[in-house]
Amino acid sequence: MTTEENIKDIVKGRYDACAERGGGEGVVCCSGETPASPSFGAEHGLYSQEELSLVPETGFTLSRGCGNPTGFADLQSGEIVVDFGCGAGIDVVLAAHKVGAGGKVVGVDFAPHMIERAKQTAAEAGLTETTEFVVTDLGRVELRDGVADVVISNCVINLCPDKEAVYHEAFRILKPGGRIAISDIVYDGKIDPEARERFQSTWAGCVGGAIEEDRYFQIVQDAGFTAVEVIARHPLQPKELEEMACCPGPEFTPIPAKKDIASVEGKVISIKFRASKGASIPTKLGAICGMSVDLGQCAPGTASRSSQNSGSPRTENRTATWTSNPRSWWPSSPRWPLTVTPA
Ligand SMILES: C[S@@+](CC[C@H](N)C(=O)[O-])C[C@H]1O[C@@H](n2cnc3c(N)ncnc32)[C@H](O)[C@@H]1O
Repeated sequence: MTTEENIKDIVKGRYDACAERGGGEGVVCCSGETPASPSFGAEHGLYSQEELSLVPETGFTLSRGCGNPTGFADLQSGEIVVDFGCGAGIDVVLAAHKVGAGGKVVGVDFAPHMIERAKQTAAEAGLTETTEFVVTDLGRVELRDGVADVVISNCVINLCPDKEAVYHEAFRILKPGGRIAISDIVYDGKIDPEARERFQSTWAGCVGGAIEEDRYFQIVQDAGFTAVEVIARHPLQPKELEEMACCPGPEFTPIPAKKDIASVEGKVISIKFRASKGASIPTKLGAICGMSVDLGQCAPGTASRSSQNSGSPRTENRTATWTSNPRSWWPSSPRWPLTVTPA
């Protein structure tokens, strides 16, 4: 059985080597495609052309995200943002543009070469004054309590064997009322245990460390976060799944067997959500669809539930809000038991 420390060493070694080699052969995970232009991210639906035009080449060539957290974090001028697992800094740059000269963005990552690349990206973007970088493990982040307004993270926490510790750290470094905006990978329900074991045995890409969605959100809630809003849920398509399963690239992570990939098809979900530390999310959407306001106004639908925290006597609420077709994630598979208030 692979221990937690072994897993971290494997993950760190792969991403560090990828950064050291500038992305390796220039391929993006398993796709075999060269990210020849900044349109790559946009083609994968993660970033707009306008956003990508702000990001120096190193940042987007080494980008390995599954979302665009600054796109839904509602960052405000002057805020302090921490990017958990910043990689080569694509989201640090985008966040720094949003928080402006009075704000600050701190990128943290445990792969030293990634942090070097991220520093290079920030310098090339002319953002050295408002960015900082720290080599640190997300299980014990070397930042003070209550320093951040927002924690963002893009396709990282699935790689962490101790997700409880990561969310505990996010909660600890946030100010009261602070918030998280996260893109990550989860499983939609149970997957074949043997295939899962094989993915885990190599901690393959962003699939090996993923866990079931309901357990994932229980961890988020147990860390103390409230008002969880699911912004989007996207089941990875076969090609996307292949790419993600050997991230950061086939030179670094063994490509899983085709039959294993096929066995999880439709069950590996790219998820985007936000949540807050003790107060409603201060966003337009949150103000409309937050816990304490008129649920009927949330279009096209809002789901909420009350639940008893395990190990805690508190009763907490969480909300999930969809922005398009609710049936893409609800109610066909009620992963976390929400009660739905139709619009
Ligand atoms: C899939 S990449 C995503 C990088 C970046 N967020 C992006 O969107 O391009 C995952 C990153 O998380 C970092 N990482 C994984 N586990 C970590 C941990 N336990 N502590 C700190 N960084 C970690 C890796 O070194 C890598 O840079």
